[in-house]
Amino acid sequence: MCAYVLVAEDDPKQAELARRYLEHEGHAVVVVGDGRAALEEARRNPPDLMVLDVMMPRVDDLQDLSAADAGELRLHPQPIDLADLLPAVADAFAASADRAGVTLTVHAPPALVTADPIRLRQAVGNLVTNAIRHTPAGGSVAVSARTESDAHVIDVADTGPGLSAAERALVFERFWRAEKSRSRQTGGSGLGLSIVRKLIEAHGGTATVTSDPGAGSTFSLRLPR
Ligand SMILES: Nc1ncnc2c1ncn2[C@@H]1O[C@H](COP(=O)(O)OP(=O)(O)OP(=O)(O)O)[C@@H](O)[C@H]1O
Ligand SMILES: [Mg+2]
Repeated sequence: MCAYVLVAEDDPKQAELARRYLEHEGHAVVVVGDGRAALEEARRNPPDLMVLDVMMPRVDDLQDLSAADAGELRLHPQPIDLADLLPAVADAFAASADRAGVTLTVHAPPALVTADPIRLRQAVGNLVTNAIRHTPAGGSVAVSARTESDAHVIDVADTGPGLSAAERALVFERFWRAEKSRSRQTGGSGLGLSIVRKLIEAHGGTATVTSDPGAGSTFSLRLPR
């Protein structure tokens, strides 16, 4: 069991939904009104409970994980050309890449996959969001597709700080974040990659990462051919 401290200052309804989900999963939850109170509350927590995070997970994310756990992630697979889907995803993130001073490129030769277009966009979009967030201004994020003998592979490569072997082993875990200060400015609640993995596994594929610390990360989604 873990103890979670949820900050409800902006969105009490969201906090309530997150509390119900986490308690249902057997975790201890404290909901507080603001970030400072959350830190104090976290310090006061009984020592036998590990305070994992001060966070506000998106309810959509929690619902996706519940559905995946229950084997109830409903997919609507159809033929999709990655030459259409990947540029569309990149377009959706062009403005945020611009704001971050990051060059976003896409290289997607025609490749037909059978997948749920909404879920595949969600998975690639999560990777692109992370990549932009972790790439310093002046760097780049490359979205590309390639075909292997048994799979179509989508790569999202960035020129950010990369991940150590220890971090790579944890990065797809729920609620795991490398940055331990979890204010909302520095990002989300550490669910994005666990959802990416679930979504791709539901398609019969895999989600993996390779990285050289200091030389960026590449997240790869493999969809069976
Ligand atoms: N491209 C990347 N480069 C470096 N570190 C990354 C990258 N992508 C993810 N990480 C690390 O992995 C952690 C987990 O990522 P994940 O997407 O699961 O959660 P998040 O982005 O923190 O929150 P959320 O996705 O729920 O908004 C991040 O907090 C970050 O520390
Ligand atoms: Mg994320």
